[in-house]
Amino acid sequence: MEQLPKHIGIIMDGNGRWAKARGLKRSQGHIAGADNLKKLLRHIQKWDIPYISIYAFSSENFKRSEEEVSGLMKLFVTLFQKEFQFLKKENVRVCFSGRKEPLPEKVLQSMDKIQEETKLATGATLNICLNYGGQDEIVDAMKKIGKQLKDGVLDINQIDRSVVEKNLYQNLPPLDFVIRTSGEKRISNFMLWQSAYAEYYFPEVYFPDFNEEEFDRAIEVYQSRDRRYGGIKDENKNS
Ligand code: IPE
Ligand code: IPE
Ligand code: MG
Repeated sequence: MEQLPKHIGIIMDGNGRWAKARGLKRSQGHIAGADNLKKLLRHIQKWDIPYISIYAFSSENFKRSEEEVSGLMKLFVTLFQKEFQFLKKENVRVCFSGRKEPLPEKVLQSMDKIQEETKLATGATLNICLNYGGQDEIVDAMKKIGKQLKDGVLDINQIDRSVVEKNLYQNLPPLDFVIRTSGEKRISNFMLWQSAYAEYYFPEVYFPDFNEEEFDRAIEVYQSRDRRYGGIKDENKNS
């Protein structure tokens, strides 16, 4: 398979361990991760990949210390207000997935701003999962559908996969490829619905070290996979 993934997901894990291995604070690992993300997003623009979803902060990450959470929230504001301005030149549309509550007002404002500024971009879509949980996304879709049933604008017999999809946070194609850095082999509540038939790849490097070369290697891995979607390969069909 030589095709490129149309939608790629990156679970950016390992910032804390990257920092610890260098005798640094976890917050410095997050800064290094953010620097790497900027480089990587520029690099990904060279590939023809129309949708990129990144896991920036899970709803479960609020369990971390107040210091770490507030440091991350500050970092998000700086990223969306300043560091991600280059995305405008790259014609990238930025959108977000996740719940608003309990994100601080400043973070919500910086999210709205970059979303608004890039909404007419016609290049790739960058979907940032922030305060995101895959199960919560399905629960929230169920609530929206329930309301439509109650309001009489939807009939129970009309509910199918496309109705569920329309009620998710964003209108995105299925994930083709999910990369989780740092060697952990789990998805930690990332885009459960969208990843039903995704290929997975778990490089050992921590996210700050997942550079352009590592990304190109990941694409090679993807292209070596055989996706069957429950069927069988054409050449074996009649044997
Ligand atoms: C990922 O790195 C970043 C976020 C979850 C925000 P971690 O902070 O989880 O790093 P490790 O897994 O502790 O090394
Ligand atoms: C998943 O990483 C969330 C992000 C990368 C934003 P975690 O580090 O939070 O996941 P667990 O706790 O190892 O499952
Ligand atoms: Mg982690």
